[in-house]
Amino acid sequence: MMRGLVILFSACAISASLLIACTPTPNSATRSAQYVVEGGVGEGKRWRDNRYFADEVKTETLATDGIHDPANDAINALQEPAEALSAFPLDRRGGVDWVKALDLGIIEPRADLKGESQMQVLDMDILFKDTGQMPWVKFPHIAHTKWLACSNCHPNIFIMKKGANSDIGMDGILAGEYCGRCHDKVAFALWTCERCHSVPHEGTPKRWMEFMGVRPDGK
Ligand code: HEC
Ligand code: HEC
Ligand code: HEC
Repeated sequence: MMRGLVILFSACAISASLLIACTPTPNSATRSAQYVVEGGVGEGKRWRDNRYFADEVKTETLATDGIHDPANDAINALQEPAEALSAFPLDRRGGVDWVKALDLGIIEPRADLKGESQMQVLDMDILFKDTGQMPWVKFPHIAHTKWLACSNCHPNIFIMKKGANSDIGMDGILAGEYCGRCHDKVAFALWTCERCHSVPHEGTPKRWMEFMGVRPDGK
């Protein structure tokens, strides 16, 4: 599946100049070209200069995670992460889908330590359309504000105005800015492109959603 993704990246880049109609601004057309992947997924090649492709999530054991001391007996008192995570719904890469876990009621995080207050939940989607051939990005406030306060993002990461953060792009995100302040760190990884790029448009190749394992009706 990820091999298909690699091909699509190249196709994006090669056709960028031919498909001006699909790329609303030259900005994303040229920048998309930088996301050509150099090698195959399984070969562990780098994407850009700082990230490795990882087509599936690997849950390390305590003894091999490089954090715990396997020689210390105390390790036996800890639950293995794979066991702790085994009952959660997974996303395409096998990472825990925390949004689904929350929706299904599998987890019920508290708004504060004592569980006295409520989250201020906001149901407002923001559509980012400067994505070239990639499906547009739908940013759902609701999935975020169920467990993040407005002040986690506004105003330090995002000015609270649609379109006001004009230089958002994958370069910044991969470098840990904007969405990348959390995604790939404490929130789902950037490799599940389709979770952000979830709104296909006219310029999106039909096969994109198939590559991503998403059904044509988007479900
Ligand atoms: C995870 C980050 C995040 C959190 C948390 C968050 N927002 Fe936002 N918000 C955004 C982003 C991203 C945009 C779009 C900015 C852009 O278009 O450049 C936005 C835009 C907005 C806008 C502008 C809408 C418009 O049409 O101009 C308002 C108003 C807003 N947010 C209110 C809130 C409120 C109120 C909360 C808390 C209940 C909240 N946001 C929590 C990320 C967040
Ligand atoms: C955490 C959310 C998120 C994920 C995951 C994500 N993107 Fe993006 N992507 C964005 C946002 C936001 C933009 C900016 C769109 C805009 O400014 O209108 C963007 C823009 C882009 C663009 C347009 C050029 C640019 O650099 O801005 C391309 C191409 C792109 N993404 C490819 C990908 C690919 C390929 C993946 C998966 C490997 C991916 N993205 C994963 C959020 C995401
Ligand atoms: C302050 C941290 C933070 C920032 C900044 C942030 N996110 Fe998130 N995002 C989260 C968390 C936490 C979740 C829920 C947990 C998870 O899915 O890993 C989430 C969930 C989502 C979801 C829901 C996915 C689903 O399957 O329903 C989307 C889409 C998303 N983020 C896109 C974005 C985009 C696009 C941006 C940038 C414009 C962004 N996020 C910025 C923390 C953040």
